[in-house]
Amino acid sequence: MGSPEQELLKKIDFDRLPQHVAIIMDGNGRWARRHGLRSRTQGHRAGIESVRAASRTAAELGMKALTLYAFSEENWSRSKTEVSTLMSLLRRFLKDEIPELMQNNIRLVASGRLFRLPDDCRRQLEETKRITGANSGLVLNLALSYGGRAEIVDAARQIAEETVSGRLKPKDIDEAAFTRRLYLPELPDPDLIIRTSGERRISNFLLWQAAYAEFHFTEVLWPDFRKRDFLLAILDYQQRERRFGKT
Ligand code: FPP
Repeated sequence: MGSPEQELLKKIDFDRLPQHVAIIMDGNGRWARRHGLRSRTQGHRAGIESVRAASRTAAELGMKALTLYAFSEENWSRSKTEVSTLMSLLRRFLKDEIPELMQNNIRLVASGRLFRLPDDCRRQLEETKRITGANSGLVLNLALSYGGRAEIVDAARQIAEETVSGRLKPKDIDEAAFTRRLYLPELPDPDLIIRTSGERRISNFLLWQAAYAEFHFTEVLWPDFRKRDFLLAILDYQQRERRFGKT
């Protein structure tokens, strides 16, 4: 008998691995409260270890992409202290994580209204993207200042501009043309979307791309989410029969 994780690993069908997993990392505030901590931001701090564990697991299993919902457009309306702590955690993560990303051949990218991020975060994001840009393994996509409706609106606006200027003809607007105007058109649609902390909502996440995604909900709070929980989500996904609207 190996460790519980090794036992789970043995059950995974590597020919049917989800290529792109997206995670709604929820429950940091509750985790902090349950641990008697004074501030919710201590939950976010603890959540960084789960970000690291999830990226490592996705890379190790050989997935193509992992998208993490790190900061939504709606999150800007949280308290000033919480927003600024999240931004400084993000900046530090983007800097400190570089050796780990390089070691695991992970390329970091981001999607969202990135122009809304503070300058120092944006600069560090550009730097980490540049340094990891040639890595050929997992693509780790941080959804930052991200909203699914905003992404659709931004694509629609771009299509309108191109149509008005004559570069795009209305008859050429189809799903593929629309997809090419999303934030990261090169990423495949997510096969599996995981949400932690017992909530069962999509919360404006990847609305266009989630069309045929499978969902896995777990009661585990994000700061407690580890490799074992990720493997359980994949095993759950592998039980599903995906028909993409066909019989
Ligand atoms: C939701 O928990 C989580 C967030 C709004 C932020 C997620 C951020 C991290 C995991 C840390 C930073 C990430 C990176 C990539 C550096 P919540 O605060 O809504 O929890 P609650 O529902 O229990 O209050």
